[in-house]
Amino acid sequence: MQNLPVKERFTGPTTELPYDLKGWKKGYESQPNEYDYWIDDIEGEIPPELHGTLFRNGPGLLDVNGQRLHHPFDGDGMVCAIAFDSGKAHFCNRFVRTKGFLEEQAAGKILYRGVFGTQKPGGALANAFDVRTKNIANTQVIYWGGKLLALWEAAEPHRLDPYTLETLGIDYLDGVLHSGDAFAAHPRIDLGFGDRGENSQSSDQSNNPKSRPPRLVNFSIKPGFSTTITIYELDTTGKVVERHAHSVPGFAFIHDFAITPNYCLFFQNPVSFNPLPFVLGLRGAGECIKFHPEKPTRIIVIPRDNKAGTPVQILEAQSGFVFHHANAFEQGGEICIDSICYQALPEVEPNSDFREVDFDAITPGQLWRFTLNLKNNTVQRQRLENRCCEFPWVNPEKVGHPYRYVFMGAAHSHTGNAPLQAILKIDFQTGERQLWSAAPKGFVSEPVFVPRTGASDEDDGWVITMVYDAAHHRSDVVILDARDFNKGPVARLHLKHHIPYGLHGTWTPECFAPSDSK
Ligand SMILES: [Fe+2]
Repeated sequence: MQNLPVKERFTGPTTELPYDLKGWKKGYESQPNEYDYWIDDIEGEIPPELHGTLFRNGPGLLDVNGQRLHHPFDGDGMVCAIAFDSGKAHFCNRFVRTKGFLEEQAAGKILYRGVFGTQKPGGALANAFDVRTKNIANTQVIYWGGKLLALWEAAEPHRLDPYTLETLGIDYLDGVLHSGDAFAAHPRIDLGFGDRGENSQSSDQSNNPKSRPPRLVNFSIKPGFSTTITIYELDTTGKVVERHAHSVPGFAFIHDFAITPNYCLFFQNPVSFNPLPFVLGLRGAGECIKFHPEKPTRIIVIPRDNKAGTPVQILEAQSGFVFHHANAFEQGGEICIDSICYQALPEVEPNSDFREVDFDAITPGQLWRFTLNLKNNTVQRQRLENRCCEFPWVNPEKVGHPYRYVFMGAAHSHTGNAPLQAILKIDFQTGERQLWSAAPKGFVSEPVFVPRTGASDEDDGWVITMVYDAAHHRSDVVILDARDFNKGPVARLHLKHHIPYGLHGTWTPECFAPSDSK
């Protein structure tokens, strides 16, 4: 693939302003309150045809009764719902009432160790040999098969009421999952466009008519000396219609995956796990993961059609660390995977404070394309974007297929590592970049692309993101016209409070606003 020319259009402050570090830290204050209201402080106009609900999940508490968590990833899940209908928007947020959340709130103190280093009070003695897991349900929330599910990758989903966000309990997928089973927080939805074809050699399938029923595809990881990856495919009623497990050599820390019509694709980052400091109460489990830059990343290619008997294939790529993939597709006999790749894993240390992070000391995440040739067993990689970026999104109809546009959270500056303050759109066809920046006091979250009903162009729709506004210590819901960032937000909805930096969210075209007057 040739390098594309970069033509950038930029909307936001015109100078390379540094970010406001003090303001960034304030976005990590807990939000213990739960709200339910129609949003009435709006700049611009909510597009009247925007109809549906944006669900978002993330850590709502960064402390338990004043005892600070060691890392935001250990925070109890708090789900937000922003329901849009006829130019109005309703906001609601609720904590997921997990067993651990209820116990800790009743006790008024930390009772569970966190994966990312949060310890119970009392030092190593109080933490040694306590290897219990607290399902914190804080990473993703998705509406599928009539169920709203809050997800955390190391344990079962929690089902919520989509109108009230009330926790209904753990959901075992109609008995498919058992107590203690994992279910990843990064499901992918295959809308069924394009024929699976005879094999992966099919060319661009994106123009083919819809030919398969939609599926939600997800996975679970059971790590160890060898790692078991289980694939789940759910039909539109939520029924698990495919489940197959595969064992791969070595320990694997896998957070996300990518799909094509024929394959599930996993990056086995070059890391090892030494559980001893965790067992002895000295470190969290996540702090016992060590990155090995001298070792390759292994890319695991699992056929989705398990009945065909095609073996799992493992290819090696240059060392790097990937949390998130933007998309994958099959083209010209090869598989392309576009991923946010770091030179090294940003490791968590026991005695550090995540609020005191030195951004300059950490390598930025950048968008890379990995091109897999399954016949030759080779991987080539190419950097698509230098700017620090994370949380990539594509048009849902393009998941698993060749695509033209990606939307990502990005740093304000062209170079270096920094908090995400901008939304970056890349047009792979022309090389054009569009950037909308909230710097220096605004900090963005994952951009969710919502297609316009009946749209024919891939970027015809809106990008919705939650922005923490440090100047007012509140959060805004920002709606951009995905075709043209240049005109600035179509609407900026000011919430009455802040929401701590979140993780992931999804859009559903069903509006779950209350039926009372607006
Ligand atoms: Fe994630």
